[in-house]
Amino acid sequence: MKKLLLAALLLPSIAYAWPWSTDMMNQPSIKPQEGVMAPFPHRSIPIQGIPTMVKNREEAKSLVNPFPVTTASLKEGKFLYKIYCGACHGNTGAANAPVTAKIGAISLVDDYVQGNLTEGWLFGTITFGSYVMPAYGKPSGRDDLRGSNDLSVEERWHVVNYIKNGLVEDNNKAVTRTASAQ
Ligand code: HEC
Repeated sequence: MKKLLLAALLLPSIAYAWPWSTDMMNQPSIKPQEGVMAPFPHRSIPIQGIPTMVKNREEAKSLVNPFPVTTASLKEGKFLYKIYCGACHGNTGAANAPVTAKIGAISLVDDYVQGNLTEGWLFGTITFGSYVMPAYGKPSGRDDLRGSNDLSVEERWHVVNYIKNGLVEDNNKAVTRTASAQ
């Protein structure tokens, strides 16, 4: 009787070894720590935004803008530009704001910015600031380290998109409006 009881107690542990009781976890899918992870598809980006890996403007110079020029991006960029940049550079970038001359802000619609400066450099300038111009981004891209005056990585790229693809046009419109009003 004792032996039978012992056998009954052992039964469950033996049962795991039976061929029909293989675990469903053991299937062809790749499990954690197994095999080599496939690289992300070209130009794919994490949905929480991308952290800035660069340490200064020089390093940011050749960064490629991961956000395509869409209507939504330009709209967001314009909205942010007016809040963060217009006060010094002018509402349409023409260096005509009341404080422009006092602080020495430059035109953002001239050839120097539009033609010479790369998108990466613009992103770097917003992130790290310039000589007089203050910084508007936390390089780490971590939201918990972000100050109230910082633009997120994504927001900075939207501003870059707007400067390169909407600012000049908006400024031309503003110039025409002023001219016809006179
Ligand atoms: C407080 C005033 C101020 C604000 C706000 C400001 N800037 Fe500037 N910015 C300056 C001044 C002054 C300069 C020229 C001197 C220098 O390079 O620091 C400048 C220069 C620049 C340059 C040229 C950098 C170079 O390499 O010569 C770019 C591009 C620029 N700003 C973009 C922006 C953008 C985009 C924003 C908004 C996110 C912004 N600025 C907000 C004051 C400002």
